Amino acid sequence: MKGWMGKFRALFLLGSLSLILSGCGVDKVSALKPEGYGAELLYDLMILSIAIMIFVFIVVMAIYTFVLIRYRQKKGQEDYIPKQTEGNKMLEIIWTVIPIILLLVLAVPTVTAVFDLAEESSDEADIRIDVTSAQFWWQFDYAGEEISTSQDLYIPKGERVYLTMKSADVIHSFWVPSIAGKIDTNPGDNENTMYLEATEEGVYWGQCAELCGPSHSLMDFRVVVVSPEEYEQWVSDMQNADPEAEPETQVAQEGKEIFENNCLSCHAIGSQPKGVGPNLTNFGDRTKVAGIMEPTKDNIKQWILNPNEIKPGNTMPANLVDEEEAGKVAEYLMQLKPSEVTPESAQ
Ligand code: CUA
Repeated sequence: MKGWMGKFRALFLLGSLSLILSGCGVDKVSALKPEGYGAELLYDLMILSIAIMIFVFIVVMAIYTFVLIRYRQKKGQEDYIPKQTEGNKMLEIIWTVIPIILLLVLAVPTVTAVFDLAEESSDEADIRIDVTSAQFWWQFDYAGEEISTSQDLYIPKGERVYLTMKSADVIHSFWVPSIAGKIDTNPGDNENTMYLEATEEGVYWGQCAELCGPSHSLMDFRVVVVSPEEYEQWVSDMQNADPEAEPETQVAQEGKEIFENNCLSCHAIGSQPKGVGPNLTNFGDRTKVAGIMEPTKDNIKQWILNPNEIKPGNTMPANLVDEEEAGKVAEYLMQLKPSEVTPESAQ
């Protein structure tokens, strides 16, 4: 009976563990499924360190088991005391030198990777993007392109894109697990830099990785990786986006007016100087509303009416407009689609 219980417990533990760990391999959001240069570098380091740990574990357990069996107390030897020894120069040297070698095997590629990942842009032709974090969203300004956008970051596949990062308020951390490592964004003049180099097209999940307030866990963003040709197209479409363009439907036209009277003091459309709130130039192409909700009219309305209920602690004021007006503004925002290149292009 006892043996059966033990086996059941072990099975239960293994089962629950594999269930929990199976969540770690989700596409486009896992450091365990790298699809970018930085993420692959980090993944290889993880595998190397795990391999070393497994090697050490196996050797130690083998010696332990051998000693346990070989030197166990035998029948009739209860009063026998083995020969007592003290100090062994050879052993001391061996178990000092082996860890040093293992640490070197770990340290050399790690330090090399640290320098590799710190590479900065040296060519004017590189794509350079200023990233600004704020509670609880992300702003992306494409240097020299006069493009500003928020929440969805478009980059071309296979090209190194250099990011200069800072924060508008508290410390946040920029992390797209499948493409690269993470880096803090600091308030003030203390800018950090990193680069993204995606090896596959797709829409990747980014997440703030530094506790930054009540909605820290909702500070999601996306990185949209498209082909270099599509990226060129997107850049040109975004540059040509006309913030004054008249919407097609009557409702959206009314929405535009309400938007201009109530929202433009914080938000920007087109590449005007950065607002206090997210740039909404290509809002209609966004994968999510506020980084977390499906982009439906109801969700947008709900967000406009009471943003703090959805993302506590964010600075957008509630009830600037009534419910009907919010619906019209949503209608207007949803038709802001300046480019043919959208997250759907990223396949
Ligand atoms: Cu921003 Cu956590």
